[in-house]
Amino acid sequence: MKKKKLKILYSKSRIQSMVKLLAKKIVTDYNKRTKSKSLVVISVLKGAFIFTADLIREIKLPVQLEFVRISSYGSSTVSSGRIDAPLLLLPNLSGRDILIVEDIVDSGRTVSFLKEYIRDQYKPRSLKVACLLNKEARREVDIKADYVGFEVDDYFLVGYGLDSAENFRHLPFLAICD
Ligand code: IMP
Ligand code: MG
Repeated sequence: MKKKKLKILYSKSRIQSMVKLLAKKIVTDYNKRTKSKSLVVISVLKGAFIFTADLIREIKLPVQLEFVRISSYGSSTVSSGRIDAPLLLLPNLSGRDILIVEDIVDSGRTVSFLKEYIRDQYKPRSLKVACLLNKEARREVDIKADYVGFEVDDYFLVGYGLDSAENFRHLPFLAICD
């Protein structure tokens, strides 16, 4: 395997500040809504696992955590255009307030597919999306996240949960990989 060069884009502390900011917005928006039932956070594996873990610990509201595993990437660095959903098992979430947590929105296919699936299956009371990173330049499906951390250019990023062929997820920072 050719050795990849990494250039740090966002440090650990920069990411932590952004996560806190996003959590604050989420708490403000959901504070009144979720009095009766907890907020359902659906984390998109694998990439969003670290972001989700940090985010929910900053959300000072009752949270129910669920996971799905879905992607449109495979091991390549460009979207395959095909949705792969090896794990799409959820309990009954009818009428709940649901927040999808994703690491990065790129072509938009993953989030768009998941939103449609959840809407069809559960008719949630509300359905929103939080992503740490948004690569608007590569969008192919018309989709907007409700909470966005960093707007990024068309780089391939790794670290903080994001991988390149399953490498680098454990890095505490986000780096450009080439
Ligand atoms: P989309 O369906 O094209 O929006 O792709 C979203 C998924 O592709 C994300 O959940 C990521 O797992 C993956 N992805 C997109 N861009 C990157 C990147 O720059 N680095 C690592 N994974 C990425
Ligand atoms: Mg992902």
